[in-house]
Amino acid sequence: MITNPCTEVDFRGLIEESPAGVYVLVHGRFTYANPRLAEILRPEPPTVLGGCALVDFAAPHERSKLQAVIDALQDVGAGEQSVEFDALCGGHGTVRVGTHLSARRIAGTTVLHGMLQDISEKRRMALEIDQHESQIKTSLLQTIDVILGLSNIRDPYTVGHERRVGEIARAVAQHLGMSEDQQEGVCVAGYLHDVGKVGVPAEILAKPARLSKAEYLLVQEHPGKGEAILRGVDFPWPVADAVAQHHERIDGSGYPHGLAGNAICIEARIVGVVDVLESMTSHRPYRPALGLEKALQELRDGRGRLYEPVVVDACLDLVSLGHPAVKAVLGDQRLGREGPLASFPTVLTSGNHGSPAGP
Ligand SMILES: [Fe+2]
Ligand SMILES: [Fe+2]
Repeated sequence: MITNPCTEVDFRGLIEESPAGVYVLVHGRFTYANPRLAEILRPEPPTVLGGCALVDFAAPHERSKLQAVIDALQDVGAGEQSVEFDALCGGHGTVRVGTHLSARRIAGTTVLHGMLQDISEKRRMALEIDQHESQIKTSLLQTIDVILGLSNIRDPYTVGHERRVGEIARAVAQHLGMSEDQQEGVCVAGYLHDVGKVGVPAEILAKPARLSKAEYLLVQEHPGKGEAILRGVDFPWPVADAVAQHHERIDGSGYPHGLAGNAICIEARIVGVVDVLESMTSHRPYRPALGLEKALQELRDGRGRLYEPVVVDACLDLVSLGHPAVKAVLGDQRLGREGPLASFPTVLTSGNHGSPAGP
């Protein structure tokens, strides 16, 4: 058995020199406070805390919250709680503090023991990190905008396709209950899914006719080229994988690797389905828009075979619910309106760029 060599004086010394404020409350008022607590709360006159109420040091808008915590512990006479609040420090402004209180019954009276720390610096650093993160995010989105702009210049026939796929994919991810962070990753993967088209000759992308076998093989290289472009970018999401796999199908019939089922990341399974939906409802150089009904039928026919069932169901739900993101993107098709390029010669409807989603 280890015997405790510390005396009561030693313990008192530890509390008195603690870098955290330590206090005891009875009926919400200080019956003990160590010197550090006075340094943090800066009472007027200095060093006098005895008899003061802790809530009097809280900023007015925080008092009821702090009082509720004290009352709850006081009523039960047991348990512990933590709370953060803005503390008024005499005439020295406010500081953000965090305190942990625990209740005990001593000789029929509820006594609250507390520790309190100045967390202003921690909070300031957290805000700075948030700000930094949002700056990085803004730069990332601006970079993606530049990429999409370049892609649109090179392939004007699919202007806005990647952005629309990203927006609908985000709505699908949200509908599936994915976290906000995952939704963002799915959206970015949608924005960038066809970035590898920069490696496919523009005349093939824009060819208003059936592709030769050699041309189609070149088109099929775009997921791999996209992956190669993005692999070196340190995204917080599996964007390169999603881009590499967006033409894979869950029965293994897709390209470039014939991956099946869960071997295809969920981001790619979402983007792949949304890509089909968006492409079929848009005009292409080799065919006019096929319409929303045909696109939905394609998804229903391929559900569970080519396309992830829950993703297909989410797309069908979003369309029938008229989800704002989907409505904004597919609005014209939903209303049965003709787009500006609807006068494509019908002979081109037999054009084939390899899959319902095209490249
Ligand atoms: Fe696409
Ligand atoms: Fe693609």
